[in-house]
Amino acid sequence: MECPVAPKLDFGGTTPYEDYVHASVLHSLQQQWSQDPREMSFLVITQIMELYFGLLCFEWRQAQRELRDDDLRAAVRTLKRSDLHLQALNAAWRPIARMTPTEFNSFRDALGEGSGFQSGRYREVEFLLGEKSRSMLVPHRAVPAQHDALEALLNEPSLYDDVLAALHRRGLPIPEDVLKRDVAEPYEPNADVERVWADIYREGNRDLLELGEALTDLAEEFARWRYDHLLATRRSMGSKVGTGGSAGVAWLEKRTRRSIFPELWTARSYV
Ligand code: HEM
Repeated sequence: MECPVAPKLDFGGTTPYEDYVHASVLHSLQQQWSQDPREMSFLVITQIMELYFGLLCFEWRQAQRELRDDDLRAAVRTLKRSDLHLQALNAAWRPIARMTPTEFNSFRDALGEGSGFQSGRYREVEFLLGEKSRSMLVPHRAVPAQHDALEALLNEPSLYDDVLAALHRRGLPIPEDVLKRDVAEPYEPNADVERVWADIYREGNRDLLELGEALTDLAEEFARWRYDHLLATRRSMGSKVGTGGSAGVAWLEKRTRRSIFPELWTARSYV
């Protein structure tokens, strides 16, 4: 029988795969700070989560451009894709979510004051979701590129700001003070916006309903990331102080209670 054509084996220089993926660069980035073998899962999962934070920011900026072009269907498609990324990000908790305190202790000291709290990309994720905070720029002062990127994002509309502006352009009564709000401030829930979402859900305009549900999916998966992080922390270090200097679990509990796209949740009581 004739053999199927085999893949090409011979390349003059590096493989096109390497040129595209930069796999050797990626695999050179796992440098443990302790001798403990369990640190490797923690480090790789953290790096994977960082990549997902970056990917989410990329997708949401794309969705913002589509919303500004009033291409709602394209925006919803992008948001749904980003929801799949969020689901994959959340699944990444599994290998490290069940560390015992002894296991975590075996490499925790090596982390020094290092904490995910200092992740610039995670802060971009929060800013894009509307959780703005000028004080969160402070840890990045020494790295101008990261600081400037965050500061620029602080002063730009969030994904939700763009959603509300798009609803307004479609004739929905989003109040003027919401449209002209200071976008560098955290988004505050608004009763008129809540009514707009309640009407959308009641009247069932298909495109707007899909937008509302795509956003709710994101809010739900993001809440899940926060809650899974909280549980992993509770499980592996109890109520000890965090490496980043916070009260640890008590501080994370407060953060976990926050809700993204608030009116999309509260409007449901009136539908
Ligand atoms: C079981 C492992 C983990 C523990 C015990 C833990 C613990 C903590 C604690 C106590 C904080 C509060 C700040 C501080 O004092 O350090 C924090 C914040 C944070 N951690 Fe983790 N963490 C873990 C894994 C991860 C991983 C894998 C990531 C992925 C990048 C991550 C990302 C973050 C982020 C983004 C924050 C800031 C959250 C916010 O600002 O609301 N953590 N973590």
